[in-house]
Amino acid sequence: MKPKILITGGLGFIFSHVTEYFVAKGWDVVVIDNESAGSHPEIIDGSFKYIKMSVCDRAVMDVIRSEAPQYVIHAAAISDVDYSIREPYKTLSENIDANLNLFEACRELESLKKFLYVSTDEIYGECEHPKNETEIIFPKNPYSASKAVGSLIRYAYDNTYSELHDKTAETRFCNVFGPRQDTRKVMALIKHSLTTGEPMPVHNEGKGYREYIYVKNIPAAVDLVLEKGVRPYNITTNDGFTVLQLIERVEKVTGKKVNTYNEKRRGMDMKYQMDGSRIHKDLDWKPIYSFDDGLKEYMLGA
Ligand SMILES: NC(=O)c1ccc[n+]([C@@H]2O[C@H](COP(=O)([O-])OP(=O)(O)OC[C@H]3O[C@@H](n4cnc5c(N)ncnc54)[C@H](O)[C@@H]3O)[C@@H](O)[C@H]2O)c1
Repeated sequence: MKPKILITGGLGFIFSHVTEYFVAKGWDVVVIDNESAGSHPEIIDGSFKYIKMSVCDRAVMDVIRSEAPQYVIHAAAISDVDYSIREPYKTLSENIDANLNLFEACRELESLKKFLYVSTDEIYGECEHPKNETEIIFPKNPYSASKAVGSLIRYAYDNTYSELHDKTAETRFCNVFGPRQDTRKVMALIKHSLTTGEPMPVHNEGKGYREYIYVKNIPAAVDLVLEKGVRPYNITTNDGFTVLQLIERVEKVTGKKVNTYNEKRRGMDMKYQMDGSRIHKDLDWKPIYSFDDGLKEYMLGA
């Protein structure tokens, strides 16, 4: 029998690629999404089962139980930091309700082999050194606080409920870029500025340091974690830059100029940096794309 995987947020920027990956692998794929910000309903083509609903709705628990998948990925979330700063109550309540619904549904799921919660490097807060998975999490804006709650629930459920013990995993991605990314994110803004010549905003003088990874590296990493992983994995290739350095790198790779103007952002951590050795050492992860190859494909592609 084909393995069955259920993906929440499977129409979004990153997980639309994961949905397509598991469809291509021949798995039975079920996607739950409410087609809110970041979604790409144009990928719906009958190759996977699509259920349009909000994961904040408690009825999602019955849906998951009746689908009885072996693998569950919870990626659906309000994922925009700026939006979360404007709408903290909505972001925190929706993301946390969704996390609880998913963990509760999976706790009672007899078919379950692995539940993967999708978290982020932002839960570490300001990083004065590359953070590893055992370090204290210290989220400093409403979005990352809502994601960190999911990471804490994962610890608590894996520890407390024997039915979930060793069946939970978690990915903590650095900044992902590539096709289908929301046009307000830095890489998409750079691409837009390259193509149109329009100036782009940079936050806090472009000094914010982030690590970047190409989206086409993500599906195979997620597959590996589902198959062999347990507990959290930082997902980074340590390609870290300030925004100004990133723009310089893009200008070098493409031979084109990017114009910028400055914008202030509240609640912004200046540096996220992770130690990615656990997934490399324990699971022998080998990314498919180097940073520069991903950058060229994305920036110079159609
Ligand atoms: N983009 C990044 O660089 C990055 C880095 C680290 C972690 N993450 C995490 O990865 C996941 C995906 O990020 P993304 O950038 O692809 O996000 P995205 O905003 O592009 O996609 C989110 C998807 O979730 C859906 N969704 C949102 N709320 C929902 C709800 N209540 N019910 C059902 N569906 C809902 C949206 O419709 C959308 O399809 C998120 O959990 C995010 O926190 C992203």
